[in-house]
Amino acid sequence: MKKFLALLLSLALVATLLVACGGGDKNSGKTETPKTETNTETKEEPKTEEPAKTEETAGPKTVKVGITIYKFDDNFMTLYREELERYFKEDLSNDQVKYEVTVVDGKNDQAEQTNQIQTFIADKYDVIIANLVQSSAASSVINMCKEANIPCIFINREPTAEDLDLWDRIAYVGADARQSGTMQGEIVLDLDNKGDINGDGKVSYVMVIGDPENVDAQYRTEFSIKALTDAGVQVEELVAQRGDWDQAKGQEIVAAALTQYGEQIEVVFCNNDAMALGALQAIEAAGRTVGEDIYLLGVDALEEVVEYVNQGKITGTVLNDHIGQAQTAAEVAIKAINGEALEKNYTVDYVKVTKQ
Ligand code: GAL
Repeated sequence: MKKFLALLLSLALVATLLVACGGGDKNSGKTETPKTETNTETKEEPKTEEPAKTEETAGPKTVKVGITIYKFDDNFMTLYREELERYFKEDLSNDQVKYEVTVVDGKNDQAEQTNQIQTFIADKYDVIIANLVQSSAASSVINMCKEANIPCIFINREPTAEDLDLWDRIAYVGADARQSGTMQGEIVLDLDNKGDINGDGKVSYVMVIGDPENVDAQYRTEFSIKALTDAGVQVEELVAQRGDWDQAKGQEIVAAALTQYGEQIEVVFCNNDAMALGALQAIEAAGRTVGEDIYLLGVDALEEVVEYVNQGKITGTVLNDHIGQAQTAAEVAIKAINGEALEKNYTVDYVKVTKQ
């Protein structure tokens, strides 16, 4: 009988324990209930919006910007790319969007740059900003981007109008180089002797060209002289040579021209400031004095050159607004990412820089 009672007690104990566990399960069921309710509440919203909610709670959305520069070793494009990167990271990134910027060096090699663009595409960048090594590569770059549906903003080296018509998610941001050439010519026209130092009725000049494939170089070369001839000034071209935007090459070209033509040279036009800095070295080495027996013009308004202009060591330059262009390029890139309608060309003005 005792054994029977003990068995009954054990059974009662087991039953109590089972009930207790069962109750626990019910409780956890209850804690799950609100979750189900929450889900019911959000049911009205389409399921596809759920990942966006997770992103929001995880912090700002990351947008990948791939930038390729024709070569890092270029004074003006260095200022430009630094501003571009700074503007995206410091001014445009906020609590909602973080711009992750990758800037690569095209090393003046189109094949290398095309590979870089292909890598940006394979890595699913949201936008590409391209300062092409060769403007002629634009159509193949546009076709690659179009196929991947990744917008592309061209900067500094202008694609042709036909290239820009190939797709509506591309645009060009730059400056109208005709304006900078014209301004160089106008600076000479504003001189008392209009550049004719020796009074022989014509302006004898040396033209140091950037890169003949580049419209900036073509237009600056053409329009600086056109401004003079349009004003009725006679001109004589003594030397016109390619200096690839490079200071050392500018120095070599002008040194050789001074050796060959000496006093005959009245004006040295350089398509950019880096080459004008080289030209200044050659002019000083030849014992000539800018503002007295020779004039010297550049484009870009590099800080160093603006100082020389103030000191009278360089006759004048033209501001190539890297800040305005970089910020416009970044803003147009964002429009492109957002699928907004784009213009084909965005142009930033040049500004004349003289001692006055
Ligand atoms: C020009 C600039 C040059 C050089 C060149 C590169 O606009 O004046 O200094 O940077 O672009 O394409």
